[in-house]
Amino acid sequence: MEDLDSSPYAETAPQAGAADGEPAPAKRVFIKTFGCQMNVYDSERMGEALAAEGYVATENPADADLAILNTCHIREKAAEKVYSDLGRLRDIKSARAGEGKETRIAVTGCVAQAEGAEIVARQPAVDLVIGPQSYHRLPELLTRVRSGEGGLVETEFPDEDKFKALPSRRPAASVSAFLTVQEGCDKFCTFCVVPYTRGMEFSRPVASLVDEAKRLVERGVRDVTLLGQNVNGYHGEGADGGPATLARLIHELAAIDGLWRIRYTTSHPRDMSDDLIAAHRDVDKLMPYLHLPFQAGSDRILAAMNRKHTVREYLELIQRVRDARPDIALSTDIIVGFPGETDEEFEETLAVVRDVKFAHAFSFKYSPRPGTPASTMDGQVPEEAKRERLERLQDAIDQGHAAFNLASVGRTLPVVFEKPGRREGQLVGRSPYLQLVHADAGPELIGQMVNVEIRAARANSLSGVIGTSE
Ligand code: SAH
Ligand code: SF4
Ligand code: F3S
Repeated sequence: MEDLDSSPYAETAPQAGAADGEPAPAKRVFIKTFGCQMNVYDSERMGEALAAEGYVATENPADADLAILNTCHIREKAAEKVYSDLGRLRDIKSARAGEGKETRIAVTGCVAQAEGAEIVARQPAVDLVIGPQSYHRLPELLTRVRSGEGGLVETEFPDEDKFKALPSRRPAASVSAFLTVQEGCDKFCTFCVVPYTRGMEFSRPVASLVDEAKRLVERGVRDVTLLGQNVNGYHGEGADGGPATLARLIHELAAIDGLWRIRYTTSHPRDMSDDLIAAHRDVDKLMPYLHLPFQAGSDRILAAMNRKHTVREYLELIQRVRDARPDIALSTDIIVGFPGETDEEFEETLAVVRDVKFAHAFSFKYSPRPGTPASTMDGQVPEEAKRERLERLQDAIDQGHAAFNLASVGRTLPVVFEKPGRREGQLVGRSPYLQLVHADAGPELIGQMVNVEIRAARANSLSGVIGTSE
């Protein structure tokens, strides 16, 4: 498995606001999203802002008047992919120019933030570079580009709240949606670029999140995933003016009628507070799923990573979470080949994977990132050793994943159906544990929660038959 594929940080399909009932479209926008779910959320919001300006989405860059690459800087491969895509967009831009059509190219996201003007220097066909905190300025910046300013770079961290400035959300395309509640990170793990690309931790106020969630529910969303680079470090303004915890926010959201399911990602072990663990016991709408990266199974490596917890603390935490919610599905992120990692230390990582039995895990070869402390540490691990470790790790992860799915066979699970399946007459939905579930059912069940008796487990999904509707 390639490290970017089938991960939550994978590339995702183009998205933009639909233009239902509006006059014939004048302009088309192509948005390609790399990286984490925060980027998926941001792409959706940019699509909405552009829809308000008369743009409609296209999946074909050759049709696009505006092409946006919403980029990720987390690993070298993700960042380099942007430049090969930009090369292709440049060719499209000149081919379209030959037909008398204008094409604007914008780079947004974490590569935009990290590399700024360097992007325009490396690929002069780029018209606009915008960092993640400035998306609300997209329409204004596009106007400036159209009036002849080229190579505009906007990567400040402005004081304005970009969430307030982006227009309200349009009808949901799906029964599940992301909601960014927190951005940025002050943890400075030594391998990671996020504190540099997304800035310091910032949490949105509870009231505006409850508002946004209600609007999503009015538009048919039933399953909301709260997003943040450090989502459980959430500390947004609560009703009393003081900071509210993520658990408090979850309680407030759980009171919204019509919202059935709440999830959150990504959490840091240091911020897994007692009230959040208790919420997994007390709040029915909080789904039994927790993504809790542990990164490495050796205390020496964890200290070098600046993770600020030990393996034992992590395992004790997992035990407390399981005490509160015994059936919880656990998921994690792991890095192999961090500088100085020995074979024995890697074995310790394998031992944690076998011990915890994660339902799911994402594993990555360490990728040195410019400007991060680990990139200049001694003992950089050769590529071949990283590759071997990753392979062995992924075998162990696959076993845990298969065992988790197999344990669902014979159970009846409430599934929220999201869309038609590949086969005619089939729908696909999610179980509480985030598993994909296929079942034969008519389209009228899309958006419904239905009991499904699980009959079979495949590598990445379950299948079953419909039982009684809840
Ligand atoms: N905030 C989250 C992680 C966000 S980045 C947390 O603290 O856990 C998502 C994942 O990418 C990380 O968990 C880590 O496993 C991986 N990652 C980050 N930087 C990396 C790097 N330089 N090389 C390889 N993997 C990396
Ligand atoms: Fe990166 Fe660490 Fe912050 Fe996660 S907690 S975003 S890995 S610096
Ligand atoms: Fe990538 Fe930025 Fe997300 S670096 S993982 S898109 S926060």
